[in-house]
Amino acid sequence: MTQGGQTNPGRRTVLGAAGLGAAVLGAGGLALGLPGTARADGGRGHGGYRDLPVPTVVAHRGASGYRPEHTIGSYQLALDMGAHVIEQDLVPTKDGHLVCRHENDITGTTDVAAHPEFADRKVTKSVDGVSLTGWFTEDFTLAELKTLRAEERIPGTRRQNTLYDGRWTIPTLEEVLRWAEREGRARGRRIWLHIETKHPTYFRGLGLGLEEPLAGLLRKYGRHKKDAPNFLQSFEPSSMRRMAELVAAPRVVLLDAASTRPWDFVQAGDPRTVADLIGPEGLEWIAGFAQGIGPTLNLIIPRDAAGRLGKPTTLVRDAHARGLILHPYTLRNENTFLPADFRRGTDPTAYGDAFGALKAYFEQGIDGIFSDNPDTALLAAADFTRR
Ligand code: G3P
Ligand code: CA
Repeated sequence: MTQGGQTNPGRRTVLGAAGLGAAVLGAGGLALGLPGTARADGGRGHGGYRDLPVPTVVAHRGASGYRPEHTIGSYQLALDMGAHVIEQDLVPTKDGHLVCRHENDITGTTDVAAHPEFADRKVTKSVDGVSLTGWFTEDFTLAELKTLRAEERIPGTRRQNTLYDGRWTIPTLEEVLRWAEREGRARGRRIWLHIETKHPTYFRGLGLGLEEPLAGLLRKYGRHKKDAPNFLQSFEPSSMRRMAELVAAPRVVLLDAASTRPWDFVQAGDPRTVADLIGPEGLEWIAGFAQGIGPTLNLIIPRDAAGRLGKPTTLVRDAHARGLILHPYTLRNENTFLPADFRRGTDPTAYGDAFGALKAYFEQGIDGIFSDNPDTALLAAADFTRR
């Protein structure tokens, strides 16, 4: 799937309606009891993440360039490589457990299709306005999901990762929190996580709200406070506003291409697009309930029609001026994902000049980056470390 010139496996967006670009401060009828503009706590002033090196390397779905994503094996490798933060995406099971998958459709990342006992669970449904046919986590109990095995999402691009197909189950968030606790004890330091709520409005509509069980687990493992070693993140701002009511851990609003609208905005009739959210009023609004933004890299440096990097935007400066940190996504080493300037040769699956691309983005002053290849990103980040 290609979006905004950046190929991103497994992402879906909702295109903003043309002509609906006007910023409406505090619009959306979110009714969460939060002020629209009052800053609860500042971005850089938040303090809880001052122990992290900057630029911070976030292992995207673990070390997903080398292992099937969102497995304990992928998280472990990322941590062993030295990644500063390990990412989890969350979706729920039918019985309300939070599990780590990039999307609720598990057709492409598990062996579910090879389980005849689940053949009749294959359905077509609409998720955030997109019709999908497959198997979905919300139709399985945790016990049922645990009979499945994780598989590589993009075997055509990452054939070597298929060596690990079938090795790990789908992890629950609680298993990851226990793993982080064990690793933290063994290493004598805090293990940082970056936890994303996926499709939060869709799941709330099914009676499977993500935020309350997430807050419950964060409290259970002592990760709910302002200085907790985890960022919370979502493409739906209302999810982060809801989390702000439940816990004090730092929050990041993810931003897709400028023309898109967050799905909660679509559902609430809020006309704002991402273009509005990265404008002065939009950033000020985000700073009222979050400490950072996670923009697609194209919002930092747009790509032209040929896929080459263009002129950097002012987003880094504008966000920093409002106390917001930036954790853009996603840097992957393969040619197919890199800006055209940094591709090497014609094999889309071969590595390009990832260091050149990382340098171009780090030069913009970003505070961190999501990467499928944390070892590469760490080497590049070392040249820019500022604290
Ligand atoms: O959460 C940051 C980045 O992971 C957003 O993209 O689609 O991979 O979750 P996605
Ligand atoms: Ca994510």
